[in-house]
Amino acid sequence: MICAHRSSVNRIDFAFFEIAVIVIRQAGNSNLSDPIHKGIDARADFATFLVSENRMKSQTVRPRKPASDSADKRDIPPSKDTRRVTTRTVREMKKRGEKLAMITAYDFTFARLFDEAGADVLLVGDSLSNVIQGNETTIPVTLDEMIYHARLVVRGAREHAMVICDMPFMSFQVSVEEGFRNAGRIMKETGAGGVKIEGGERVADHVHRMSEAGIPVMGHLGLTPQSIHQFGSYRTRGITKEEATRMKHDAKALEDAGCFALVLEKIPTALAKEITDSLKVSTIGIGAGPHCDGQVLVMHDMLGLTEEFHPRFVRRYASLAETVREAVRNYDSDIKKGKFPSEGESY
Ligand code: KIV
Repeated sequence: MICAHRSSVNRIDFAFFEIAVIVIRQAGNSNLSDPIHKGIDARADFATFLVSENRMKSQTVRPRKPASDSADKRDIPPSKDTRRVTTRTVREMKKRGEKLAMITAYDFTFARLFDEAGADVLLVGDSLSNVIQGNETTIPVTLDEMIYHARLVVRGAREHAMVICDMPFMSFQVSVEEGFRNAGRIMKETGAGGVKIEGGERVADHVHRMSEAGIPVMGHLGLTPQSIHQFGSYRTRGITKEEATRMKHDAKALEDAGCFALVLEKIPTALAKEITDSLKVSTIGIGAGPHCDGQVLVMHDMLGLTEEFHPRFVRRYASLAETVREAVRNYDSDIKKGKFPSEGESY
């Protein structure tokens, strides 16, 4: 289906190179800077170039958002519009001062829309426990359920976005080996570009083991919902001096262990800025102020599907809950009045 609208002359070459890019990118999705990985990056760039050329010829490319003005600041050329986001893209964006947009996604349809809209990273967050499954906390969602949803999202992220899958509660806490094996399952069974893991220095060995094996890892500090029963509330983290010092230490430990990016959740703006300025890897904020290298929101919150959740850091970009209710009210009423289906809608 993906190839159906491309010219048949280019179809075989295109498919071959597209597969080659995926394979090479998967292999190169490590943030290691050794010559082998640099070689992989170079080959992936070449293959990406060939794919881009083919896309241009077969007219399948869609307009992409322009790089921000700040992109020119440091003499690094803006990323190619058609290019798949990888850990390398994320690194380059930070160097250019270009902000990254991440949003959660849990299924094919929304993933495809978000990818088409230009989101850089789609996070299959364990928030799916709340917004998809209706649980109070993120604790109940299982690894198999995360894998199932991540597979759907990968299918929808057809052109641009990198997909990251959360490691759910108890998929890594028992041991480094178990976490490593489960991260491997996510990579093999979903096609995601990496995993996210909650915690500071205590997961540094996990991160090291995974990133050494070529699994890109995103860290998560500040409010870490999997520890809700330990903290007892969703209050802002990093307020006290001890907490802030600990978080700065954790951030450095995660960077040293190999994380390519860190989510900072619900922490003071000044602390998020300090951490962001002190790291080479990107920070992605949620309730952490404007100085992070990127931002993330849960799709249900930013689209106005969860009306009862009103934290100050959520900006509503749509009011889909009311749109959906209105549409279904009209549908219900049309059926009951015999107005749907009409003759034109019948055979
Ligand atoms: O699970 C999730 O959606 C998250 C984001 C809030 C960062 O971890």
